Amino acid sequence: MPEEICIFTKGTLIIKAPKKSPASLRMLVLVFAMVCGGYICLVCLKQTNIHTNTKLLNVEVHQNHCHNIDRSQTPFVHYPNPTSFGRDECACNPVRLFAILSMQRSGSGWFETLLNSHINVSSNGEIFSVKDRRSNVSSILSTLDRVYNLDLFTSASKNHCSAAVGFKWMLNQGLMEYHKDIVEYFNNRGVSVIFLFRRNLLRRMVSVLANSYDRYAKLLNGTHKSHVHSHEEADALSRYKPVINSTSLVMDLKLMEKMVLQALEYFSSTRHIVLYYEDLIRNRTKMVDVQEFLGLPEMELTSRQVKIHKGSLSEHIKNWDVVDKILRGTIYEGFLHTDYNN
Ligand SMILES: *[C@@H]1O[C@H](CO)[C@@H](O)[C@H](O)[C@H]1NC(C)=O
Ligand SMILES: *[C@@H]1O[C@H](CO)[C@@H](O)[C@H](O)[C@H]1NC(C)=O
Ligand SMILES: *[C@@H]1O[C@H](CO)[C@@H](O)[C@H](O)[C@H]1NC(C)=O
Ligand SMILES: *[C@@H]1O[C@H](CO)[C@@H](O)[C@H](O)[C@H]1NC(C)=O
Ligand SMILES: *[C@@H]1O[C@H](CO)[C@@H](O)[C@H](O)[C@H]1NC(C)=O
Repeated sequence: MPEEICIFTKGTLIIKAPKKSPASLRMLVLVFAMVCGGYICLVCLKQTNIHTNTKLLNVEVHQNHCHNIDRSQTPFVHYPNPTSFGRDECACNPVRLFAILSMQRSGSGWFETLLNSHINVSSNGEIFSVKDRRSNVSSILSTLDRVYNLDLFTSASKNHCSAAVGFKWMLNQGLMEYHKDIVEYFNNRGVSVIFLFRRNLLRRMVSVLANSYDRYAKLLNGTHKSHVHSHEEADALSRYKPVINSTSLVMDLKLMEKMVLQALEYFSSTRHIVLYYEDLIRNRTKMVDVQEFLGLPEMELTSRQVKIHKGSLSEHIKNWDVVDKILRGTIYEGFLHTDYNN
């Protein structure tokens, strides 16, 4: 225990002060010992800060008289004790903490509705879209504490019987900027990371452009929607064909790709799984892997969300001929062809 080391060090330093030295020297040694002791304790306190929560939780669990606590997977299972409510019958059920790291328009909205259709999952949405929560490291970490202690409520919160609690976090929401502190927090608290990216970044680009156009065009009877639940709505939204900036196209794709690789590198030391939207669409059994990763009882997961840009990409880009010409023969040529059947 770091605290014990603090006390021990302080003690020895004081004991070592020689008895029969001149008063001034004795004073000097004493002051030195006190400064050193104080400094060491400060450092120790700083280091234990993050561990304190987990320790507290364990203590609280003992008080709850939980039997059969699964410690084999420490630190990845938790027994949170929310300040705002009691977990009642599920107090002794282990909870896993997760974060979905993704980028806008990469299928994370759909993925999250799938996850939330599980009775034991609370994935609380894009909580860091609120700027105050990501304005500095301390507000990020205290927001994380709130989520993982089940004290942040959203429409997705299942409270008592959550077996996995988390949220989705876009790379541009403070995640890359404060990655060092966040990785440290994730590893100390045992937060599992679900990366969700899109293989076809050109499709992502179309979706980003169309979505930001709709922000002011409001194609659905005067309302802006980022996700839709019917084919009529999907058709209405996909009728708008964005023009892709041909000058910056290749550079834009490169930048997106670089950001994804950077994120994978930054968070490589965490417990993680890497998912691609296209793979999940083609093969729903991939969701079984996700449930396993989160230690959930396996369930059939469903989402009401409907894909907006279906079919060939050539249907969805106004200056398709130009884009096609630019990307042919580049490493991004594959983006032109990949297609969906559904
Ligand atoms: C961090 O941000 C929060 C919310 O914006 C603010 O209240 C707080 O003073 C900031 N703390 C530091 C240390 O800057
Ligand atoms: C999942 O939720 C159900 C219903 O709330 C509950 O009975 C069950 O114990 C939960 N399972 C886990 C693993 O938490
Ligand atoms: C617009 O509203 C009308 C009437 O409520 C409805 O029938 C129609 O489907 C809506 N259109 C879209 C694109 O949502
Ligand atoms: C296209 O990208 C180039 C290079 O970034 C930029 O200078 C130009 O303004 C962009 N064109 C449009 C129409 O946005
Ligand atoms: C679908 O995903 C599962 C789970 O990852 C995998 O075992 C299986 O081989 C995949 N099937 C196909 C056809 O790729």
